[in-house]
Amino acid sequence: MIRQDRPHLALVGGMGAGKTVVGALVAERCRRRHVDLDRWIQADTGRSIGVVFAESGEDGFRDAEQSSLGRALDLAEPVVLSTGGGVLRRPANREALAARARVVWLRATPETAAARVGDGTGRPLLEGGSPVEVLRRLNAERSPLYEAAADLVLDTDDDTPDQVADEVVAWLKRHEAPAGSSAAPS
Ligand code: S3P
Repeated sequence: MIRQDRPHLALVGGMGAGKTVVGALVAERCRRRHVDLDRWIQADTGRSIGVVFAESGEDGFRDAEQSSLGRALDLAEPVVLSTGGGVLRRPANREALAARARVVWLRATPETAAARVGDGTGRPLLEGGSPVEVLRRLNAERSPLYEAAADLVLDTDDDTPDQVADEVVAWLKRHEAPAGSSAAPS
């Protein structure tokens, strides 16, 4: 049984780290609901991520992200949450995730991430520049945030999503207390 105050599993990391695809696989294997935060933001705002950025700016997007994250973390059932790459920018989001989720950092080099995101379509922060250069800058800025938040760090450069999902599931199972135990692992 996962500690009740941290029922959720959250995947964090930069764009192209594989958070969405790995999250879906982990959720399926653990029979948990998968929540993709960017999809929730789109449903909550009725707009695509690109339109939210264009109409409301990055601050408007971060407001929507914070609100959708709060709703996801309030769910009583344990979910697997795939976050967006900038979710840890706001201290309130860092606190909310630390309180309600175990956090796994899916790490990828900017070069790997760039190969995965292609021309960056659908990711406003990658538009109008060289994706690999933007990814390098964001990686340098955000790695300390991911590191501080993470209960587990997984390098994903050489692994398939299936392999990464296997590692996440194995780690999660190791952190489950034996049946009938009320032990609360850290
Ligand atoms: C962002 C990452 C995106 C999305 C938005 C902003 C970021 O999600 O939330 O475009 O700040 O890194 P992915 O990490 O799923 O691409």
